[in-house]
Amino acid sequence: MCGIIAYRGDGEKDANEVVLKGLKSLEYRGYDSWGVASRKDQKIKQIKNIGKIGHIELEQLGLAKSKTSIGHTRWATHGSVHKRNAHPHASSCGSVSVVHNGIIENFQELRAMLSEEGIEFSTDTDTEVIPHNIMHLMKGGDSFEEAFRKTLLSLRGSFAVVAIHSDHDVLLGARNGSPLVLGIGDNDHFLASDVPAFLEHTSKVTYLDDDDMVVISDSGHKVISLLDGKESIRDIHTVTWDVEQAKKGKYDHFMTKEIDEQKTTIKNAIEQDSELIDKCIEALNDANGVFFVGCGTSYHACVSASYQFSHIAKEHVNVVLASEFRNYEEFLNEKTLMVAVSQSGETADLLDAVKTAKRKGVKIMCIVNVMGSTLMRISDIAVLMNAGPEICVLSTKSYTSQLSILTLLAYGLADRLDEGRRLIMKVSDSVGSIIKKSEPIVSALAERFKTSSNMFLIGRDLAYPSALEGALKIKEVSYIHAEGFAGGELKHGTIALIEENVPVIVLSTDSTRELIVSNAMEIRSRGGYIIGIDSVPNPVFDTFIKIDSFGNADPIAMIIPIQLLSYHLAIQRGCDPDKPRNLAKSVTVK
Ligand code: M6R
Repeated sequence: MCGIIAYRGDGEKDANEVVLKGLKSLEYRGYDSWGVASRKDQKIKQIKNIGKIGHIELEQLGLAKSKTSIGHTRWATHGSVHKRNAHPHASSCGSVSVVHNGIIENFQELRAMLSEEGIEFSTDTDTEVIPHNIMHLMKGGDSFEEAFRKTLLSLRGSFAVVAIHSDHDVLLGARNGSPLVLGIGDNDHFLASDVPAFLEHTSKVTYLDDDDMVVISDSGHKVISLLDGKESIRDIHTVTWDVEQAKKGKYDHFMTKEIDEQKTTIKNAIEQDSELIDKCIEALNDANGVFFVGCGTSYHACVSASYQFSHIAKEHVNVVLASEFRNYEEFLNEKTLMVAVSQSGETADLLDAVKTAKRKGVKIMCIVNVMGSTLMRISDIAVLMNAGPEICVLSTKSYTSQLSILTLLAYGLADRLDEGRRLIMKVSDSVGSIIKKSEPIVSALAERFKTSSNMFLIGRDLAYPSALEGALKIKEVSYIHAEGFAGGELKHGTIALIEENVPVIVLSTDSTRELIVSNAMEIRSRGGYIIGIDSVPNPVFDTFIKIDSFGNADPIAMIIPIQLLSYHLAIQRGCDPDKPRNLAKSVTVK
C-alpha cells in the first residue's frame, strides 16, 4: 500500500520526470492522492493532489529540472483523503521532506512529545512526526543522516521512508516491515517500493532488509544498519523482468493483458528446476503437519490446493487465512511445514504469519511472484511463479500460476509428476480458445446483468474454491455484491435471496455434475438465471459457457471466463478495472 519512488542523479536526467513516470507505474499500490518533492538550489518544492496521477504531465507540475526528487502515491490509513494528508510531508521550516509507506504505531506518543516542544502539526497523518523529529534532532546538533537514523529507530510499526533536506545533497532511505528496493544505474540511484517503478532505467537492484538504511550521495551509495550505523556490503542482483512486461502494450487495460498472458504464464509456472521441485516434495513428505497460508486470492489458491492434495496425494493439509494464523501457534513445531502463497511477497498479514511460524522453528516454503520480495528472502524454499509483473490490482494470472504450481506439487507428492505436468500443459494449451469462445458470451452477460445488485456462484468439491475466487473478482472490480458458495450450502439460508432474474454462476465438473445440477434446479425454480460453466450443456443452464474437462486441473481453467466476465462488468458499469476503488495491489499494513 502506498508507492514510493525517489531518484538522485548526476543532473543529466530530470529527477521530476523519472519520479512522475515511476509514480504512474506504482499507482496500483494506492491512488487516493499523490505528491512530489523536488530539491533544487538548496530549496525543496512540494506538489500534491488528491486522486489518481493518471494523465498528469511533467509541465503541469511546474517544477524546474532537478537532480533529486521524491514521490508518493497514497492509500490512505491515518487521515482522510485530503490534499493536506497527501505525501510528501515536510518539517515546519520546509527543509526536510519525507515520503512513507506503512503505519507508525506510536505516532500519537511522538506527536505529543513534539507538540510539547512547540512544534505545530498541519496534517492528520502518522507520517508527519518523521520530518518534525528529524528537524528537532538536527536543531540539537545531529547531522541529517544521524537525525534520520535516530528518528526511524524511535518508530514502532512498519515503514519504508525516504527523505531529502534542502541543505544536504543526499538522498536517504530506510525500511522496516515495508518494501524498499535500491535501483543502481550508471550514474544515478533509485529507491522504490517495487522494481517496475525504475525498470526502464536499470535492472540492477539491491534488495534492502529490515533495519537497513541507504545513503546516496556523490560518492555512490552505502547501506548501513539503522541499529548501529555500521556499513555492510550488499549483493547487486539483475532483475529478469523486462520493461515491456510492465507496459500495457496493445491492451486497453492491464487486466485484459494479464488475463491474456495466461496463455503462457501457466506453462511458465510449471517450468521449474527439477531439483527445486524435488526439494519441495521432500519437504512436504517429511513434514508432520502442513499449513497452506495466504490472503485474498492467494488464500483461495490454498483452499483449492487443499482439495487437490486430498484427491491426488491423499494428504491432509490445513488451510488458514494469514490474518488468522496466530490462533494456530500452539500446533506448530520444527516438523511443521508452512506453504506461504503470495503474488507480491510483501503482504503484511502473510509476513506476520510467517514470522509467527518461524518463531516456532517451522520450515517455510513460499510460492511467490516477486523476486527478491521479503517473503522470498525469509523462506527456506522459494518457488517463483515466473508470471512477470502483475500490475492490475486484481490477481488474475498470478492465481492460475499459484494453482498450477500447487497442482504440480500434489502430483509430485503422489509420485505422478509427469502426469501432472501433462495435464497442466493441456490447460495451458486451451487458454487461447477459452478466452476466444467465452468472451462474446460474457460480454453479452455483462450487458444484461450490469445493473444487478447481487450475483451468486456455486460449485462443489474442486469447483467450490473457484466459486469463492470468482465472487471476489466480480465484487472487487464491478462493485456488484457477489458471493461464492459450496453447492450444498445455498439452501441453508442464502437461497432466500434468490428471486426473478438473479444471476447465478454454476460451476459444474464431471465428478460433481449430478448434485450441482440439482442445486441449479432449486435456484432456477425460484426465478434465478443460471449461467452454467461445464464441459457439456444442460437444460438447466440459461446461458452455457463450455470449458473442456481437465479433471484435477479444472480450477485452473474454469476461473478464466469469470475473470473475463468481471472485466466486462467493470467496463459496462464505468469502473476502472485496473484500479478499483479503495484497493491497493500490495497490502502492506495489517
Ligand atoms: O500479494 P498477495 O498475493 O499476498 O496478495 C494477497 C491479496 O491481497 C490479493 O490476493 C488480493 O485479494 C487480490 N489482489 C484480489 O484480486
